[in-house]
Amino acid sequence: MKRPILIHPDPRLKKVCDPVSDVSDQLRALAEDMLETMYDAPGIGLAAPQVGVLDRLIVLDCAKDEGEEPHPLVMANPEVIASSDEKNVYEEGCLSIPDQFADVTRPKVVDVRWMDMDGNERTETFDGLWATCVQHEIDHLDGKLFIDYLGPMKRQLITRKMQKLKREKAKV
Ligand code: NI
Repeated sequence: MKRPILIHPDPRLKKVCDPVSDVSDQLRALAEDMLETMYDAPGIGLAAPQVGVLDRLIVLDCAKDEGEEPHPLVMANPEVIASSDEKNVYEEGCLSIPDQFADVTRPKVVDVRWMDMDGNERTETFDGLWATCVQHEIDHLDGKLFIDYLGPMKRQLITRKMQKLKREKAKV
């Protein structure tokens, strides 16, 4: 089931989310809903707070080249445990900040540890777009948005555009 995506600014997008203690059917259902919502948007990543759930859960799938098989990943309590000194710049966007994009610099390669939907601990190395995406989604769990990496002027400009968008949406 698709869920509505919160649009910035929203206090729920600024919260530090709670760790997931165990993988319940309810959590699996949330992950399924989040994947459906992400694919439908369409997007390559989504964090639970973006659908108003303050749990440390993210979904992502950066396999978006034509003809590439889907590669959904669901991560509970994801954590960057190592990151490269080498940096990468990507033009990032966010489903909670529609139609706004900006360059963000992040470590190019990261090792991430998480709990999968079978309750198993997993560790994997991510590079390129996958690395950027997983870092962006983990940031959401700490109340951090990609615009927080930008200068105050640019951030305020985007925030004002989003406030306007929300006012317009509320009128309809
Ligand atoms: Ni985002």
